[in-house]
Amino acid sequence: MGARKRYVLAGTGGRGLGMFAAPLLKDFTEFCELAALFDANPDRLKAANGLLGTNLPVYTDYAQMLKEIEPDAAIVTTRDSTHAEFICRTLDAGKRAISEKPLCVDGRQCRQILAAAKRNRRKPRARCFVTHNMRYGPAIQELKRLIASGAIGQLKWVQFQENLDRRHGADYFRRWHRVKANSGGLLIHKASHHFDVLNYLIDSIPETLLARGGLTFYGKHGPFRHKRCEGCPHAGQCEFHVELFKNERTRKLYKEAERADGYIRDGCVFDREIDIEDQASVLYDYKNGVRVTYSLHAFGSYEGWIIQFEGADGRLELHEVHDTSWLSTNASQHGLGGPTGKHLYHWSKSKGFRELPIPEAQGSHGGADPQIRHDFFGRPFDAKPTPQMAPLEEAVQAVLIGHAANVSLARSGKLVRVQDFLKKG
Ligand SMILES: NC(=O)c1ccc[n+]([C@@H]2O[C@H](COP(=O)([O-])OP(=O)(O)OC[C@H]3O[C@@H](n4cnc5c(N)ncnc54)[C@H](O)[C@@H]3O)[C@@H](O)[C@H]2O)c1
Repeated sequence: MGARKRYVLAGTGGRGLGMFAAPLLKDFTEFCELAALFDANPDRLKAANGLLGTNLPVYTDYAQMLKEIEPDAAIVTTRDSTHAEFICRTLDAGKRAISEKPLCVDGRQCRQILAAAKRNRRKPRARCFVTHNMRYGPAIQELKRLIASGAIGQLKWVQFQENLDRRHGADYFRRWHRVKANSGGLLIHKASHHFDVLNYLIDSIPETLLARGGLTFYGKHGPFRHKRCEGCPHAGQCEFHVELFKNERTRKLYKEAERADGYIRDGCVFDREIDIEDQASVLYDYKNGVRVTYSLHAFGSYEGWIIQFEGADGRLELHEVHDTSWLSTNASQHGLGGPTGKHLYHWSKSKGFRELPIPEAQGSHGGADPQIRHDFFGRPFDAKPTPQMAPLEEAVQAVLIGHAANVSLARSGKLVRVQDFLKKG
């Protein structure tokens, strides 16, 4: 068996091309060959080859691609609700499936993927991993090290507060994410990062949970609305107006793709079709006794998180304010001029208070993306998975918490048992 393995990319959108296809072609040629592209939209496939400067075989039929290309692995970066289908088909073909987070959008899909993994367990390549990149953030790695080394004694209580701002946070209300059937809502699409990291740091499985939340700012709550920003009569007075394509070449490629499937990226954030929450709070506890308070909102004056860990012998707090100017929109100036940065604080019963250094890392998502690419693609295919490479069973747990929260808030905050959703519901 040669060291170089053949990969196919399913989903040639922003993440698929930027996070995987382009780096595979440029930086990971020792162990990887990008062999083909798959997407539902033929124009987007054409645009993908144009943007990558390649002439890769393209497919709109997944089975045909697997049959003709015979890849070793598929990277799944389609819309969240479609991951389950492509993961199952990849496992059934005996190939490795590497999916973007979230693994899928609900408990039923978790069960489908687990069943596919089980029926293919004797095929050596048929394994599923999820690229949970937040685990790789340098501050998260530092927290993992500190908690595991007993820096705060036995962990008791965690509070995670996620603020999405009116530039990046608003973007989830412009595209497919805004429909729950596509994304599972932010408690799956976004919070799967956070629930996975909490599972990873707390090192246990979630048990009981209750949640409240709703749509309180976007959607029907807007003062006016139009189908999209392009040509909008309210542009002059709207805090959320965007001009997405500043580069004429990119605009042309995306406009061609848009004609094929009607997928627009500048949908009105006040559209009445929006059915996801823009604010939610979740209370849950772990089998090892740790209790969690989690909250999220998507109309913040700044973007970042505050994560607090209280243990029997001390406390850790991570404060991060993120720069969202990478999102090339001219939307909302609200709060965007504030300070950005990260701070890690430690209160210790024996050593008192200190601010701790956070290792520096370069690259997108706080330096997490290059690290995760290295683990998956910068090593031989059969190298031992690192502890950060989330296997299927761990990725399932992140989705289950979001799913349980969606069920609970649909039942006005009823207490639910998270692991029950592995069996039904
Ligand atoms: N880990 C991270 O930090 C991170 C960041 C961004 C996106 N993501 C994830 O990456 C994935 C892609 O996100 P994106 O922002 O690139 O979205 P996108 O809308 O830009 O791209 C999605 C692509 O999937 C294709 N597609 C949709 N449904 C399909 C189907 N049924 N069959 C085949 N192709 C289909 C679309 O045509 C599009 O080209 C999502 O799962 C998202 O949650 C992860």
